[in-house]
Amino acid sequence: MRFFIDTANVEEIREANDLGVVCGVTTNPSLIAKEGRDFIEVVKEITSIVDGPISAEVISLEHENMVKEAEKLSQIHKNIVIKIPMTAEGLKATKILSSKGIKTNVTLIFSAAQALLAARAGATYVSPFVGRLDDIGQNGLELIEEIVDIFDVNAIETQVIVASVRNPIHVTQAARMGADIATVPLKVIKQMMKHPLTDKGIENFIKDWEGASLQL
Ligand code: E4P
Repeated sequence: MRFFIDTANVEEIREANDLGVVCGVTTNPSLIAKEGRDFIEVVKEITSIVDGPISAEVISLEHENMVKEAEKLSQIHKNIVIKIPMTAEGLKATKILSSKGIKTNVTLIFSAAQALLAARAGATYVSPFVGRLDDIGQNGLELIEEIVDIFDVNAIETQVIVASVRNPIHVTQAARMGADIATVPLKVIKQMMKHPLTDKGIENFIKDWEGASLQL
């Protein structure tokens, strides 16, 4: 499993990128709006930080306008991936963009049937939302397992991005299931790094070393 960071905040993206663990970025209209900055400017800055797929989402709900927005966004940088909502219009736009060689990430996937349709429309990535399913009392990780199995059995090349990640268990379980990518907020990346026994171990090593008055 590879990791993308799920934010439009360039400071967070820099911090995660410096850790050396992320190889892509996903944004969405809510994350962009939170930054209070020009959309194109933010996306451009992100492409200068991470050298990998950067998802930027269209706002229009009608496929011809989605395609127009996608073409504008894809001019920003070769790494831009167009995020398209999972609707009938979104599928049409995905098909057109795929025929033009523009990469897409079909988002707001909440069922395996939706993922399968997006893949058949030519999506490069699908983004099933684990946390939002958990929030309504459904098992988000079961959806990941189902999609990964279906793509595997049918030799579908569309990659699965586990989205709406809320905790490290979402990430490790999805990795066991064979999901290609998890897009993870910085907070969860930090939770993944930490273990109290690691901190305790370092504290003890330092104490023992200093007690023995050794030099490096
Ligand atoms: C993914 O691409 C989405 O931007 C994101 O994971 C949504 O997460 P949320 O449910 O925490 O808003």
